[in-house]
This record gives sequence, C-alpha cells and structure tokens, in this order.
Amino acid sequence: MSNKVAVVTGAGRGLGLAIADDLAARGVRVVLAGRSSEHLESAAAGITAAGGTAVAVPTDVTDADSVTHLFATANEAFGRVDVLVNNAGITTQVNVVDLDETEWDRVFDTNVRGMFLCTRAAGRLFAEARSGRVVNVASVFGLLGRPGFSAYCASKGAVINFTRSVASEWSRFGAQVNAVAPGYISTDINAAMRADEALMARVLQRIPARRMGEPAELANVVGYLALDAPDFLTGQTVVLDGGESSV
Ligand SMILES: NC(=O)c1ccc[n+]([C@@H]2O[C@H](COP(=O)([O-])OP(=O)(O)OC[C@H]3O[C@@H](n4cnc5c(N)ncnc54)[C@H](OP(=O)(O)O)[C@@H]3O)[C@@H](O)[C@H]2O)c1
Repeated sequence: MSNKVAVVTGAGRGLGLAIADDLAARGVRVVLAGRSSEHLESAAAGITAAGGTAVAVPTDVTDADSVTHLFATANEAFGRVDVLVNNAGITTQVNVVDLDETEWDRVFDTNVRGMFLCTRAAGRLFAEARSGRVVNVASVFGLLGRPGFSAYCASKGAVINFTRSVASEWSRFGAQVNAVAPGYISTDINAAMRADEALMARVLQRIPARRMGEPAELANVVGYLALDAPDFLTGQTVVLDGGESSV
C-alpha cells in the first residue's frame, strides 16, 4: 500500500471518477475535486466502501480562491500532496464563424486556466517536498484539427505544450509532468454523439480499433504516469486512441 495522496479534478464522474477509483485501488488517498458536491460525495462513498480513502472538496477550477482552498484542504487532511491529475474539462461544438467569445473563454477558463491554477498550487508544494507528479488530461484533439472544435482543439494543444514547459521548469526539483491524450472514451462528454447511430458509425470508421475506449483503460495509463513511470519520463504526452491519430 502506498501512503501517497492525489488530487484529482473532475473526479465526480466520467474519466475523473475512473482515475480516482484506480488510484484508490492502488492504495493512494484521493482528494476529489469538482463542482457538483452530490457527484463528489457519491464518488467518495464508493471509494470508501471499496476500502479506500477519499475526501470530497467542492471546487471550481476556474476560480483561484477555490483552487487555493482545495490544496489547503488536501494538505490539512493528509499533510502532503504527491500527485495532481488535471482532468476537469469541457468541450463545445460550434463553427468558428459562429463561436462567440464567451463560449471560447468558457472552454479556455476550464481547460487551460483551471489546469494552470491547479498546477501552480501543486507546484508550490512539490518544490518544497522536492518531488511530485502531474498528469494532465489533454485530448487527441490537441494534436489533430476537427471541424467545429476549434476552441477545444486549441485548448488541448495548450495543455500539451504547457505540460512540456512545466516539465522543463520542474525537473530541477525532481517533479515530473506528463499528459495523456485520449481519443473517444465513453462518458457524458460524448453522450449525444453516442446516441446518434449514423454519426457513431462515421466516427468508428476513423478509429482502427473500431471501438471507443473504456474509462478504465485511460485510468490505467494515468496510474502508470502518476505512480510507476520512471522519473526520467517527463514532458511527454501518451496518446490512447485506438490508433485514430496514427492513420
Ligand atoms: N471522454 C472522452 O472521449 C475524452 C476524450 C479526450 C479528452 N477527454 C478529456 O477528459 C477529461 C474528462 O472528460 P470526461 O469525458 O470525463 O467528461 P465529463 O464526463 O463531462 O466530465 C467532466 C468533468 O469535469 C468536471 N468539471 C467541469 N468543469 C469544471 C470546473 N469548472 N471545475 C471543476 N470541475 C469541473 C465535471 O464535474 P462538475 O460538472 O461537477 O464540475 C466532470 O467531473 C476532460 O478534460 C476532457 O476534455 C475526454
């Protein structure tokens, strides 16, 4: 069993919940962050029932005070933070000519500013501890262009290059920063797409594996980067997409 502590954002549902469950099953004490207390409490109850340790801290990652409160609470509860998983994220699908600036900002506030605020807070603890790991959940859309997804693609491209930059900064105090770039994985974020049979058939045609990924597959890669990967692995983005970006 590990005595490590991980903060996971967007941990109440979807990929964040799978990541938190996986880390808890590996013996990591998890701090669950997200806006919906109801989802967080239910996630924490599930982890506790399975024999793990979890605390729920309602958090809006776009809000600097809320993020400060998250890390202060994590540090008070456990006296340390070893891992941050920046998973909270949103998407939007609007052609760029119709995309208003409020919607653009909403995507960047969550996917980029939120990741920056949490990374900065974790980094202050990691610099003192002279160790720590961040795993940023980017997207294969951060490596590819997709019509209608300019704000999301640009925000996830920013996640990938932020990862490289912070990794280069933090190597001097022994902290690693990597990213995962998932392709399609079944969660709420793509529920509408999955309900559209014709659209799903077109999407699956683009994926050599001819299926979507499972949240547990992504959680497995995040767990590896957060706990098991060698310290020499930093600044990288691991793509998990059934081959979508390889063709
Ligand atoms: N599923 C996929 O196919 C896929 C593919 C590539 C990348 N991703 C990325 O994976 C991550 C998780 O996505 P998902 O598929 O699990 O989506 P999801 O089911 O829609 O979950 C999104 C999570 O982010 C949280 N969140 C959103 N805004 C937040 C905010 N301001 N503060 C705190 N938490 C916030 C949500 O919780 P609350 O609403 O309670 O705040 C929720 O837990 C995202 O970064 C997404 O871009 C997903």
